[in-house]
Amino acid sequence: MLAEIDQQIQTLIREVGERTKAAMQADFTIDEKTSPHDLVTTVDKQNEQIINQRLREIDPTAQIISEEGFGDQVHDIHGHVWIVDPVDGTMNFIMERENFAIMLALYIDGQPTLGYILDVMKGLLYHGGPALGVWENDHQLSRPLNRGLRDGLIDVSSRILMNDLHHAQTAAKAARSIRVFGSAGISMTQLITGRTGAYITNLKPWDLAPGRVLAEAQGLVVKRIDEQPIDMLSSNFVLVATPKAAKDIMELIN
Ligand code: IPD
Ligand code: CA
Ligand code: CA
Ligand code: CA
Repeated sequence: MLAEIDQQIQTLIREVGERTKAAMQADFTIDEKTSPHDLVTTVDKQNEQIINQRLREIDPTAQIISEEGFGDQVHDIHGHVWIVDPVDGTMNFIMERENFAIMLALYIDGQPTLGYILDVMKGLLYHGGPALGVWENDHQLSRPLNRGLRDGLIDVSSRILMNDLHHAQTAAKAARSIRVFGSAGISMTQLITGRTGAYITNLKPWDLAPGRVLAEAQGLVVKRIDEQPIDMLSSNFVLVATPKAAKDIMELIN
């Protein structure tokens, strides 16, 4: 049953990816949400409507958490819960026209089960989970090397780095170098392929959900900086890292 859902979701996300590329060539509207740094486009909204409608056909009794308001009011994580980010990295979508993703995840009774991150412009779909393994298109990924903080690249979201939240600059200075991608989904693809070794960030459920599934299935640590359990119904200030880098960072910043 998981394998059947998986095939349907891969088809869906690829279709929405193609639609997104076509929409980029046409006119779309850009609106401010909370500030000029927080934008939404008609593509975000249309993608979410299409994805949610198809999810309701594929998995009719599931609940849907999604960013742009077309999902359900979800108060508990029991049963099947789909978590949807219709365009992750909207600022990159608008300004760079690359380095953005479409993301979906399935949690069953709160357990990370399936994750999907489509790097739209590269045509790379990262997918899978603990039962299916982790894949880049049709190539199964091996587990990332367990590098320590000093031997790897660290990714820190720009706001956290600029404001030195949770002493993130101390961790960043200890790493080989720093990377900032502007899309949580793209950041997660760098971790699960072993390019970066750590990521410090504060994420909403739809930013974190698929990356958490795929990162944990790849043997990476996904934990809150305050060591509290992750709550998939709210924001989490998290560290995603190799086991060695996670230990190094927790020692440095606490
Ligand atoms: C944002 C991106 C960004 C992250 C923000 C997210 P959006 O998602 O993933 O990298 O730092 O916290 O909100 O709004 O473009 O879907
Ligand atoms: Ca957004
Ligand atoms: Ca996002
Ligand atoms: Ca988004």
